[in-house]
Amino acid sequence: MNLRTRLFSISMTIAAVMTAVMIADRVQTQRSALIDKVQSRSADLADLASEAAVYALRSGRTGRLAELLSPFGEMRQVVYIKVLDKEGRPVHRAGAIGVDIDAREIDFSASDVEDGVYDLTRRLIKDDEDWGTLRLGVSTESVSASVAQALRRGLLIGLSFLALLAALLWRISALGGRDMALLVKAAGGINSRTLPPLPAADGESEVGRLSTAFSALHSDLRDERARRKELEDNRKDFFAMAVHDLKQPLTVLKAVNEMILESVQAGGDGGKRDLGRISELSVESIERLNDMVEDLLNISRLDSPDIPLDKRRIELPAFLRECDRDFAAAAERAGRKWVFSDESGGGAWIYGDEKLLKRLVGNLVMNAVQYTPEGAKIHLGARRGGGGRIEIYVRDEGKGIPEELREAIFEKYRTFSDNNRNVGLGLAFCKMAAERHSGEIKVSSEPGRGTEIAVALPSSGREENES
Ligand SMILES: Nc1ncnc2c1ncn2[C@@H]1O[C@H](COP(=O)(O)OP(=O)(O)OP(=O)(O)O)[C@@H](O)[C@H]1O
Ligand SMILES: [Mg+2]
Repeated sequence: MNLRTRLFSISMTIAAVMTAVMIADRVQTQRSALIDKVQSRSADLADLASEAAVYALRSGRTGRLAELLSPFGEMRQVVYIKVLDKEGRPVHRAGAIGVDIDAREIDFSASDVEDGVYDLTRRLIKDDEDWGTLRLGVSTESVSASVAQALRRGLLIGLSFLALLAALLWRISALGGRDMALLVKAAGGINSRTLPPLPAADGESEVGRLSTAFSALHSDLRDERARRKELEDNRKDFFAMAVHDLKQPLTVLKAVNEMILESVQAGGDGGKRDLGRISELSVESIERLNDMVEDLLNISRLDSPDIPLDKRRIELPAFLRECDRDFAAAAERAGRKWVFSDESGGGAWIYGDEKLLKRLVGNLVMNAVQYTPEGAKIHLGARRGGGGRIEIYVRDEGKGIPEELREAIFEKYRTFSDNNRNVGLGLAFCKMAAERHSGEIKVSSEPGRGTEIAVALPSSGREENES
């Protein structure tokens, strides 16, 4: 049984019980009033009949009793009439056909009307003398008939009222019924953890509003679940690829060591000559491995919002000077012209994880070196950007980045390099690092002429520093 039917049947049961109680009360009140009426009329009748009986008994003409009392005996409502003399002997008896007058054993102290007769008795006292007793039975059939009629009318009104109420209640319960059904469906989905898609709720009634809120919660849950799944899938892909890529420099390292071993075992001069080149390869592979492991660790750190970064206030000019010192040599060694400028105006501070930020700049510089020809200029600089931000940029005179790739280059493992040493993690790491610092990365590039990649970071004010 659904909620609507349950609410409906509970309301209807309550209404039916209340109606029945009201009808019973009404009928009982009416019955009491009718009995009162019969009793007072019977008393009047008994008074009149007593007068007649006393008159006959006093005058000693008991034979006239039948004549005097016959109008009473003929009355439709009089069931019996009986007169006893002072010794208790019956001197007159009359009654409706089928009524055994002598057999009526009546408890006169109670006005018992259960058998359809109201019995009453009168002592026949006149001038302080007791002349006997008059007993009168009056029919209460009119009461029963009226009560039955009142009951019929009450039932008719009650049933009409209940039918009307039922229609009304069913209509009212239907108002929020659709929303209620939605609610029930949503709850079912959550219980079974399937979270099926839900249609929109009406949102008008209270149940509707509840249903809207529930639907929103439900769709948040769905989104969250989808996001978690995507994250989980990414993580799995990421680690599968990472393991695969780490194997490559390891294989080179192994081969290099085998070559060293072979040349040592050969012991000849040729072997010694090759050793320098072999060691170079070995160091390169180790550096590559080191870089990859560093990138992987950093990315997985940035990927987990729960792992805090080691953030502190950083004085921008000093930070830039360090970057200049660390990266200029590598660029120049690779045959590029190095330019450094700090246009931030001095006194600027940023707030962040210094190691991560330096690695971010390092990645931009490494890309600039890799994607520019020998002799090209690489420019590391900083300036004040919009919204009180500081922009640290690396500009080059390389091949540029085509418009259609400017989003894809930030995806993990997306590389457009022909060199199979590139894995496509550099810019993905830069973007994640910038975002964890409430910053962003901006690319401007002219294919064939050069690229500028800038990271915009919020500047850390002096007051903020103190707090
Ligand atoms: N300064 C640049 N000039 C031209 N293209 C660039 C520049 N920087 C990045 N790119 C392009 O963006 C792509 C993604 O760069 P990213 O640094 O993420 O990966 P990668 O350099 O290919 O590999 P690695 O993980 O070894 O850095 C590169 O493959 C390259 O095509
Ligand atoms: Mg790169």
